[in-house]
Amino acid sequence: MAAVAPVRRAAIIGAGQMGLGIAYVTALHARVPLTLHEPSPTVLSSALKRLDGLLSRDVEKGRISKDEADAARGRVRGVEGDAAKGQGLETDVDLVIEAIPEIPDLKTALFKHLGEALPPSAILGSNTSSISLTKLAAAAGSAKGEAGKESAARVVGIHFFNPVPQMKLVEIIPALQTSPSVVERAVAFGKACKKEVTTSSDSPGFIANAILMPMLNEAIFTLERGVATAEDIDKTFRLGMGHPMGPLALADLIGLDTCLAIQRVLHNETGDSKYRPAGLLVRMVDAGWVGKKGGKGFYEYS
Ligand code: CAA
Repeated sequence: MAAVAPVRRAAIIGAGQMGLGIAYVTALHARVPLTLHEPSPTVLSSALKRLDGLLSRDVEKGRISKDEADAARGRVRGVEGDAAKGQGLETDVDLVIEAIPEIPDLKTALFKHLGEALPPSAILGSNTSSISLTKLAAAAGSAKGEAGKESAARVVGIHFFNPVPQMKLVEIIPALQTSPSVVERAVAFGKACKKEVTTSSDSPGFIANAILMPMLNEAIFTLERGVATAEDIDKTFRLGMGHPMGPLALADLIGLDTCLAIQRVLHNETGDSKYRPAGLLVRMVDAGWVGKKGGKGFYEYS
């Protein structure tokens, strides 16, 4: 069997909590040099600070040596700019993973650009939680003829879980157009990041969010109906079911804006009422209460 072509250089697009986590495992575990692309200077500088913090903590806890931490940090270069407009994006990469907000139009515009700008050898990965990979592949492949087909064939879902440094799983989601060699390379990359890998077809929500989102939403409906307090709903799952955290705390961790965006995509795609977002979730996002990253969600964070 032919050896899987290794990833030698990567670009991660989006330096929010997911992009930063993906950069961390790519640099530290897969040992791949990468650029981390982000249009907002504030978000980029806080992501790089957070990366320094994660690596220092690993050293303090004796998980890695100072030299390993320095080498990992040396592999990450922050780049300010909008990658969808080509700003700062180098073409000499084997793998791109986008982790931009879960908004279909933003992702399709980015994939259209990546399909045109990057060489045929580069894998075009998406950390999307819910958006159809087949749609993103179609956007990447929108050039006519062979070039279009080739670009669509290299799009694949590489879906990490939050917090990326802690969660041991990556879901790999081939689009209908994805070539088997791209799937193989994505699986090998997930393993190089020291994650276990599952594979899902391009079905709404894949494995994880198809099941998780109705549960989080039901917890929000339960709170909205006044059945119990947030604390008691979460306690039920922690102590009654052995979950590491309750559903409302988990929704806060994922980001209420992200949960809402995922549920909207799933509801639009399936028409299934189990994905209709709870009114309270919509109102909290309208209020700017987006969970842990914003300091307020179902709980307050300092
Ligand atoms: N980012 C990075 N690291 C974090 C973190 C965060 N947001 N939250 C906690 N950690 C780290 C802590 O710093 C700590 O690290 P050290 O080992 O260096 O000390 C470690 O996690 C353990 O933390 P704690 O001891 O404070 O707390 P804990 O043991 O309860 O673990 C947890 C925290 C790992 C978040 C755990 O509660 C957990 O596993 N929760 C469930 C998370 C989950 O289900 N994630 C999936 C969400 S779904 C998703 O992401 C997909 C999607 O598409 C929406």
